[in-house]
Amino acid sequence: MSMKKRLLSGIQPSGTIHIGNYFGAIKQFVDLQDKYDSFVFIADMHAMTTIQNKKTLNKNILNVALDYLACGLDPKKICLFKQSDVPQVAELAWYFNCITTVPYLERATAYKDAYMKAKEINVGLFDYPILMAADILIYDSDVVPVGQDQKQHVEYARDTAQKFNNIFGNTFHLPEPLIMNNVAIVPGADGRKMSKSYKNTIPLFGTDEEIKKAVMGIVTDSKSPNEPKDPSNCNIFNLHKLFLPEKDLNELKSRYENGYISYKESKEMLINEIITFISPMREKRKKFERNPNLVKKILKNGSKKAQKVVIKKMSLIRSQIGVNL
Ligand code: ADP
Ligand code: TRP
Repeated sequence: MSMKKRLLSGIQPSGTIHIGNYFGAIKQFVDLQDKYDSFVFIADMHAMTTIQNKKTLNKNILNVALDYLACGLDPKKICLFKQSDVPQVAELAWYFNCITTVPYLERATAYKDAYMKAKEINVGLFDYPILMAADILIYDSDVVPVGQDQKQHVEYARDTAQKFNNIFGNTFHLPEPLIMNNVAIVPGADGRKMSKSYKNTIPLFGTDEEIKKAVMGIVTDSKSPNEPKDPSNCNIFNLHKLFLPEKDLNELKSRYENGYISYKESKEMLINEIITFISPMREKRKKFERNPNLVKKILKNGSKKAQKVVIKKMSLIRSQIGVNL
């Protein structure tokens, strides 16, 4: 058995992966794959809360798998799988549901946001944090690398573990969120958090044209090219931070402060930085795109490994709650 601590995380196949997903989450999976015993999955059961179309869900699942592999997740080091291939998480989520109260779930920010938009909310969306708690706890995860917006969900997992342990005896240990300060909230084109749901994203694997369009659409104030500008308040500058080495960033900062750069030029620089950065990953993605069977095989092997862990854990859980005779 591995002595390494266990890392677990996932991304929903609910749309096109963007730069916020990469820096906030995927990059951590890659950087930490040697340090931790890593499990990374495609959260397709969670995506069902918003995507109820067979073709779209199918296509998105394959796309996230391709994105993961293109970004450098190594299936030899990381157990890479599809959430729905380990359906015991839904069983565990049910047991958790029975010890969770409605007002507690009503306090979740994601639920409150959806409620404010006055959408008809499905039970799956309401119960989202509990399925996520099941994901995290069923694998005895130690660390969960995510962006800032997911912190509350990891806290729900911790609370749920404690509650279960109090009722049924010590069964789960408490996971920690792993959030990188400098990339906790990557800003989108409008300055809010970059998010599929705000339509303010820069797609990670977009075409050059799509990337140009997204960057050119970044909102700025109306300062003229020669006016001094405040880099810390500039949505373009905040994205440069992700790509430029410190020396180049300092240089750019002083050009901003001294009025030696227009927003247009800053955007053009950013487009080049993004395209240069992603081009090797694009090439890698193309290779996997040509071989979908290999990708499916990787996911299948991953699910076998995940099943092994889960079968053992579920047997303990079932006996703790008293359904095993
Ligand atoms: P979205 O908000 O676009 O729907 P997801 O909820 O699918 O993104 O997020 C997948 C992962 O990427 C999560 O770990 C999330 O915290 C991270 N993430 C998403 N957007 C950002 C962002 N703008 N900055 C940092 N991390 C992010
Ligand atoms: N909620 C996460 C997101 O929106 C996806 C997710 C589902 C997840 N289960 C998880 C992340 C378990 C970390 C651990 O991206």
